[in-house]
Amino acid sequence: MDNERMITAMAIKEDEDQSLRPQSLDQYIGQSNIKEMLDIYIKAALKREEALDHILLYGPPGLGKTTLAQIIANELGVQIKVTSGPAIERSGDLAAVLSSLNPGDVLFIDEIHRLPRFVEEVLYSAMEDYVLDIVIGKDSSSRSIRIDLPPFTLIGATTRFGDLSAPLRDRFGVVFRLAYYNHQELEQIVRRTSTVYQNKIDEDAVLSLSKRSRGTPRIANRLFRRVRDFAEIIGDGVITNDITNHALSKLGIDKNGLDHTDYRYLKAIVEKFNGGPVGIETISASIGEEMTTVEDVYEPYLLMEGYIKRTPRGRVATELTYHALGVTYYKGLFDHESK
Ligand SMILES: Nc1ncnc2c1ncn2[C@@H]1O[C@H](COP(=O)(O)OP(=O)(O)O)[C@@H](O)[C@H]1O
Ligand SMILES: [Mg+2]
Repeated sequence: MDNERMITAMAIKEDEDQSLRPQSLDQYIGQSNIKEMLDIYIKAALKREEALDHILLYGPPGLGKTTLAQIIANELGVQIKVTSGPAIERSGDLAAVLSSLNPGDVLFIDEIHRLPRFVEEVLYSAMEDYVLDIVIGKDSSSRSIRIDLPPFTLIGATTRFGDLSAPLRDRFGVVFRLAYYNHQELEQIVRRTSTVYQNKIDEDAVLSLSKRSRGTPRIANRLFRRVRDFAEIIGDGVITNDITNHALSKLGIDKNGLDHTDYRYLKAIVEKFNGGPVGIETISASIGEEMTTVEDVYEPYLLMEGYIKRTPRGRVATELTYHALGVTYYKGLFDHESK
């Protein structure tokens, strides 16, 4: 009965709207620390006429990792080749993409934590010395050949930093963790989207949309597109606050930016497990969701906004959750921190 969840940060096909992707560091909103450092590293690499150091970008989906990789290539004035961990099944696949690079180019590997281990091992020498050592043939006739590669920059992106092996992590000269965007930054992103799409939007509607975007540009843009549909069909095209609230409530998103799934998760902790602590496996099983989905998709926002806390013994609901569910909160009884 759940149709596509509007506020998952995972990409759905419609999200790949290239016109919304900022093309330069200047246009990229927020993440100011990362931008400041990248600006210096890029200028230094250009000045020395060397390839930029390998960069690892990590953080929840929809925060702008792919966008940033493209911007880095733009700013360097080089080509970017895009692939992903699961797409590289054999070391030959990696050899093919690496040998197609020109000096200084960027190779972007999305979901790099899903790279098969034996492919990963081939990548080590490519990253360190710009050479590829590959074994060809089988058994007694097998031999190893070495291929020289042009200097290049590997940009890896992952939502699961902890799943990356230590040797791979260590080969990135630069590691950036992308943070959730604050309300002001999301407002800027919503305004930018309205400019790109040439849709007028009222200022209070900008606030409503950004408040419900879960700190995530991808969600802000997706909600924008849905609200725009309502504005064009039931209104005169202008995105007003009334239309925004109407559309969002039709989409099952409440004033806190929570939807049906969030409530199922929070209710499980409060009603089935007395507010916790309860292990993530247990919660996931009780609401019939995959544990990794719960961990990567539902929990980060609930943690960030303070609906739940992570303790060594499991997840605990906070006063905010009791409030949101309209359940009386007894301080002390549920205050596991004081134990
Ligand atoms: N800093 C930003 N400023 C403006 N728009 C952004 C920013 N980061 C992401 N976006 C928008 O959000 C969408 C999702 O970003 P993307 O780079 O695909 O995220 P990720 O690769 O981390 O999942 C992009 O299409 C882009 O339009
Ligand atoms: Mg991406």
